[in-house]
Amino acid sequence: MGDMTSTWSPGSWRDVETAQQPEWPDDAHLGSTLETLRALPPLVFAGEARRLKEAMTKVSRGEAFVLQAGDCAESFGDFSADGIRDKLKIILQMAVVLTYASGLPVVKIGRIAGQFAKPRSSASETLDDKVLPSFRGHAVNDAAFDEASRRADPDRLVRAYQQSASTLNLIRAFTKGGFADLNQVHMWNQEFVAESRQGRRYEAMAREIDRALRFMGACGVDLSADSSLHEVDLYTSHEALILGYEEALTRQDSLTGDWYDCSAHMLWIGDRTRQLQGGHVEFLSGVENPIACKIGPSATTADLLALCERLNPRNEPGRLAFITRMGSGSIEEALPPLVRAVRDSEIEVTWICDPMHGNTFSSSGGYKTRRFDDILGEIKGFFAVHQREGTVPGGVHLELTHHAVTECLGGSEEILDTHLSERYQALCDPRLNARQSVDLAFQVGEMLQG
Ligand code: PEP
Ligand code: CO
Repeated sequence: MGDMTSTWSPGSWRDVETAQQPEWPDDAHLGSTLETLRALPPLVFAGEARRLKEAMTKVSRGEAFVLQAGDCAESFGDFSADGIRDKLKIILQMAVVLTYASGLPVVKIGRIAGQFAKPRSSASETLDDKVLPSFRGHAVNDAAFDEASRRADPDRLVRAYQQSASTLNLIRAFTKGGFADLNQVHMWNQEFVAESRQGRRYEAMAREIDRALRFMGACGVDLSADSSLHEVDLYTSHEALILGYEEALTRQDSLTGDWYDCSAHMLWIGDRTRQLQGGHVEFLSGVENPIACKIGPSATTADLLALCERLNPRNEPGRLAFITRMGSGSIEEALPPLVRAVRDSEIEVTWICDPMHGNTFSSSGGYKTRRFDDILGEIKGFFAVHQREGTVPGGVHLELTHHAVTECLGGSEEILDTHLSERYQALCDPRLNARQSVDLAFQVGEMLQG
């Protein structure tokens, strides 16, 4: 691992400056909580993270496509078996749309089972002359605007772990226990989607899939024998933000002796915490999981090359993804120099498009929102740039929900400014609702065909 091998340890991030850490009021309480976490079982296994790394290697060669999606921030309040099932439905539905259109396998990665911590632009929030610490995600504090809710509470880290464990347990049951069987393709179309135009388009596609399966069966192919038709892998991911938590779940693999952050299969560094000498880069440089780094408009080519050197010194394919989030108006100027610099240095990275975080603005009614057309526009720009530069558009990174929310504007449902107040439930950033998500999947599928 370059010249870092000798000095890296799961706790070496503590020796450098680390942005975006909460102000925990009681160090002893934090310390005992981290001890508790250290004693709890890993959420994922090293072997699974290695499998994802292999899948990411295929993605980087254009032999597969990534769908990374889920909430901006998971919630302690919105947690139920039906909710997890419906989150899974929307991801399975989008993945099958993308696969059917492109003929490529889709690597499914949830922003799920651990996405509980948020970086903030400002450490405090002011409302009616009252100043309180910002909301940092349910792993840290609560969103309600009062002193007790906003106090950072380490017990929440254990609760985040527990909710992640329960979520992952159900995901494993659903993805391996028949629910994700391709014969169930109709069942993934939840009611709110089914009654819409894109839901009917999905039904038509699902019938084609049925026909294809029947055809292969009639030709004598034993469909029951092939597990890839009956099970899927849904990998987990979140922003590795609260490093005390990530460190406590970092374990040495008994097979290889390597360190893995066993809080999720993939971890990413946010756009606000990608300082080369900062704690987040230091921490993720030493774990062997597949990792990603968000890249916003302020990133330079020198930043990217240095990040590759720190985060992927062995130039290992599948190890590092750059998730670009430039904004639909900037991507066609901002992305090409970065892509060229990495390409010309023969550096192995996977490029993923986050069309959400560069396209956020406040509506006239004061709601944080995004336009469906900007989201689609950034993805189009992303494909166009990679097409021109001869590089691989590896996937999309989306904030979405299975709920029938009104948080993002537009789409074929024409959600307008005046609709935002109807069902705005986001804990942090505005998410695509299930119809908008399926709509987007069809349109990205067409881009992949083209
Ligand atoms: C996020 O993914 O929710 C996020 C905060 O993104 P970024 O770091 O790209 O701003
Ligand atoms: Co977000």
